[in-house]
Amino acid sequence: MTPEEFRKYGHEIIDWIADYRIRLESLPVMAQSSPGEIRAAIPANPPETAEPFEQILNDLDRVVVPGLSLWQHPNFFGYFPSNASLSSVLGDYISSGLGVLGLAWQSSPALTEIEEVVTDWLRQMTGLSDSWSGVIQDTASACTLIALLTARERTTQYSLARGGLQEESQPLVIYITAHAHSSVDKAALLAGFGRTNIHRVAHDEHFAMDPQALEQAISKDIADGKKPCAVVATTGTTTTTAMDPLEAIGEITRRFGLWLHVDAAMAGSAMILPECRTLWQGVESADSLVMNPHKWLGAVFDCSVYFVRDEEHLIRVMSTNPSYLQSAADGQVKNFRDWGLPLGRRFRALKLWFLIREQGVEGLRKRIRRDLENAQWFAQQIAAIPLWRVLTPVLLQTICIRHEPLGLTGESLDAHTRSWCDQINRSGFAYLTPAILDGRWMVRISIGAEMTERQHVKNLLDELCRVAENTLLSATGDQ
Ligand SMILES: Cc1ncc(COP(=O)(O)O)c(C=O)c1O
Repeated sequence: MTPEEFRKYGHEIIDWIADYRIRLESLPVMAQSSPGEIRAAIPANPPETAEPFEQILNDLDRVVVPGLSLWQHPNFFGYFPSNASLSSVLGDYISSGLGVLGLAWQSSPALTEIEEVVTDWLRQMTGLSDSWSGVIQDTASACTLIALLTARERTTQYSLARGGLQEESQPLVIYITAHAHSSVDKAALLAGFGRTNIHRVAHDEHFAMDPQALEQAISKDIADGKKPCAVVATTGTTTTTAMDPLEAIGEITRRFGLWLHVDAAMAGSAMILPECRTLWQGVESADSLVMNPHKWLGAVFDCSVYFVRDEEHLIRVMSTNPSYLQSAADGQVKNFRDWGLPLGRRFRALKLWFLIREQGVEGLRKRIRRDLENAQWFAQQIAAIPLWRVLTPVLLQTICIRHEPLGLTGESLDAHTRSWCDQINRSGFAYLTPAILDGRWMVRISIGAEMTERQHVKNLLDELCRVAENTLLSATGDQ
């Protein structure tokens, strides 16, 4: 494709995306496709000869869009918000168009230095002290893996320079609750801790880590000859947005010399609001922290920011420094290849830079406040309707609910919950996520898509009541 052809089709694609965003609301939120349907619509073999570009573009409407669940839809209440604000989409475009790689500072100085600045903006926006340094990674999963690798190396005093974990005399232990994200288990397993050394600490009635139980677990493990290594605390758990008490946990990790990693993947975005920061009070006692601007904040996926206090330790663990990547500037610059797993890095900072500049911190705050207000409104309304229950405190934008008709308990209640939720999802009206809490199915309503306004939340409330009631009627009618 020549630059002139690119200009022509590029304009068409921008128009296509703009039109898609405008008509989004009229499309079903959850993909209506059945397994294999999309694969079957595409030739199994690659084209031997070049295809006209128009033909490729036509397949967007024919094949791609019908096979999508629409995260940017205003009635998307599933999983968590993953906003792809259009200014950040343009930043991402430019990153691809420039086609540069950050292997070392010298390979694209602007890539590194804008990343330094923009992660520092995020630090300031979230009220973190200037003892933190940030770097952009692909996902929170990668950040947590890096955190556990660096925790492992601090505890073993750089076992990687000797025989690694295989030569350690004591097993290293990680502490989490049952509500930590599955990526934490994955990171601990990949970092070599082993399933039996992932210690699940008890939580309180609101699913937040119990610090007393943590301290007891650490003391018992020490008495049993194990080596406590790290705690992964969550600010905003995936299922219920529970907040592990960082202040009390930080006091314990400091006293016992453990690494504290904070997973604020989703909830980190809320910390741009000063009024939310009590939710992670004590965060300054952590060693590392991850937040995902690619969730609620609006930077298009992928854009996960990893903050560390001791960058020298991180570099010592991650650095390999082959000669072909060395340069005269090395003593004065950051080489982000030594801050994570991959060597090459995209110019991800652009999408965050564009987003923050185009919205201003004020604009971003306004949107997050709107979502918090919508969540409170929804929770109050539904809690006031007979037979509906809000199951957990609504700390942010997620509301965990259940419709509990009289006489329905146990598996019948589970069947009812799954049935009404499934009907709403399959209808294409909205997308909700069912999940298990304390052994019973419930439904999470996650508010926070960029286009979701109060009217959408009101419509959802009406639809939930209607569908749950009808589900009950048809179930009792069936008997
Ligand atoms: C609390 C928490 N941690 C980690 C993750 C994983 O995020 P990522 O997809 O960036 O790895 C999620 C997202 O689902 C999450 O909610």
